Amino acid sequence: MYRLIRPLIFRIPPEASHDLAIDTLDWLGRTSGGRRLLTQHLPPLPCALFDRTINNPVGLAAGFDKNGRCLPALEALGFGFAEIGTVTPRAQPGNPRPRLFRLPAQEALINRMGFNNEGLTALIGRLSAHTRTMPVGVNIGKNRATPVNQAIDDYRLAFCAVAPHADYVTVNLSSPNTPGLRSLQEPEMARALLGMLKDEQRRLTPTLGRRVPLAVKIAPDLRDDEIAALIPVLIDVECDAVIATNTTIQRPLTGPAPLKDEQGGLSGAPLRGLARHVIALLYKGLPASMPIIGVGGIDSADSAWDHLVAGATLVQVYTGFVYQGPRLLASIVTGLKRRVEGLSARDLPAALEVARRNLLSGNLTKTENFS
Ligand SMILES: Cc1cc2nc3c(=O)[nH]c(=O)nc-3n(C[C@H](O)[C@H](O)[C@H](O)COP(=O)(O)O)c2cc1C
Repeated sequence: MYRLIRPLIFRIPPEASHDLAIDTLDWLGRTSGGRRLLTQHLPPLPCALFDRTINNPVGLAAGFDKNGRCLPALEALGFGFAEIGTVTPRAQPGNPRPRLFRLPAQEALINRMGFNNEGLTALIGRLSAHTRTMPVGVNIGKNRATPVNQAIDDYRLAFCAVAPHADYVTVNLSSPNTPGLRSLQEPEMARALLGMLKDEQRRLTPTLGRRVPLAVKIAPDLRDDEIAALIPVLIDVECDAVIATNTTIQRPLTGPAPLKDEQGGLSGAPLRGLARHVIALLYKGLPASMPIIGVGGIDSADSAWDHLVAGATLVQVYTGFVYQGPRLLASIVTGLKRRVEGLSARDLPAALEVARRNLLSGNLTKTENFS
């Protein structure tokens, strides 16, 4: 169905078609008939998201549903989990339009949205309005008007506000479209910020009756030595998960891309190698108890599998979903299940253990190399 209407959708400017998609999903998600229309019956591929068991390891990445309007629809489509936001304490309009660009030859996007969102109050209102079984993470950021040296106050406010309503919270330190934000990935800044949020997490745990896991989302543009410097901070502060990666400011593009010089973050297929490299570095340096959620350029079961074998335990999609629609989710889950069965493993984590062992012993079972 999406394949049929995609040429029409792609005639509309990118942000207008995104808005149309959100309005449609919001509308369909409101009625049982609409949700039935969206429902995809995916094979079960259970795995763990923190202490929850989820139906499959494929989540929707942050930035698609910034204001949490589509949760019933996303659940009907069969996502294992969804991350909404980035939400900032106060509503803000984001950067001037146009700020979203398609690179169809590369199945990529460039965006400089700049955290356009309706703010905490609107998001929390929606989150608390309905019950769900699909876990929802909330991705938090700072307002553009907040100076970087006061960012900690925005993150504290946002964390404490969303924690009661979220299954996990992601600290976004990696959007390239908010000036200075990425400097929060520097070890001392990250230590102060994440340490403070972990203190808030501990303080809230008895009141909420549960610990709300804290994930941090990092950029694919960190150098290897910068990642190496960040790893001990993540371990020391006992960060609960890492999401790798956000969009890139690099342009690893081949083929015609007339819009490649638009400022902003590049996502989709050309990001895949950079993201996988970061995932592999994190996997080497982090304890197994700290899950990595792999995101960047996933457009098939093969590319999802390769992120998983490189070290991710779960994956997220955004740009691939824009280009392929809901069938991407079905093809990833079905393809991953086939891999599990092909390795005669009891579940996905067991299959990944086998695949990583095979990879180490030189018996390659993956489709691409990663470094
Ligand atoms: C239009 C657009 C908006 C995005 N907004 C956010 C955001 O608000 N917060 C965030 O953490 N990531 C955001 N992202 C990054 C995605 O969550 C994801 O990390 C990135 O696009 C790489 O995945 P992909 O190649 O599957 O798209 C955005 C991406 C796009 C394309």
